[in-house]
Amino acid sequence: MHTLHVPAGASKLEIYAEVLATAAAVVEGEPDLVANLANITAVLKQALPGVSWAGFYRQVGEDLVLGPFQGKLACTRIGPGKGVCGAAADRRAPVVVPDVDAFPGHIACDAASRSEVVVPILRGDRVLGVIDLDSDRPGNFDDIDAEQLVRLAALVEGLAWPA
Ligand code: SME
Repeated sequence: MHTLHVPAGASKLEIYAEVLATAAAVVEGEPDLVANLANITAVLKQALPGVSWAGFYRQVGEDLVLGPFQGKLACTRIGPGKGVCGAAADRRAPVVVPDVDAFPGHIACDAASRSEVVVPILRGDRVLGVIDLDSDRPGNFDDIDAEQLVRLAALVEGLAWPA
């Protein structure tokens, strides 16, 4: 089994290179979507600095429904266009929120959350779900996170999602 190795002092890009390589390795040959998403949340939470919550919401009908995650208890269901997750799904583009209190409609699952990044998982124009990272530190995420999570979302899109 591939083990996650993040050297002390690694840059964000170096950490994401390890995240992407580890995610690719753990899903290799494994067809089960839930198992794969679960392991990817572990990789994200363990590797990235300041991440207090890492998880997936899946598009089920109109709503985004909670999938595998690591962190505190979270909202189960997010209605269309609601919160940062709904905004990213609607826009079909990443949303970086340096200060959650300044984002109108932010859904506070965890009162300690200060910043967030959400990236849609797209198959063509269809939204399969989103990747959501929260931090208890303000300004923990930037465009590098958004860019690199788009690469992770492309890998996740290739998994066995239901039709
Ligand atoms: N804050 C998110 C809700 C999900 S939790 O952060 C896990 C939002 O506004 O969509």
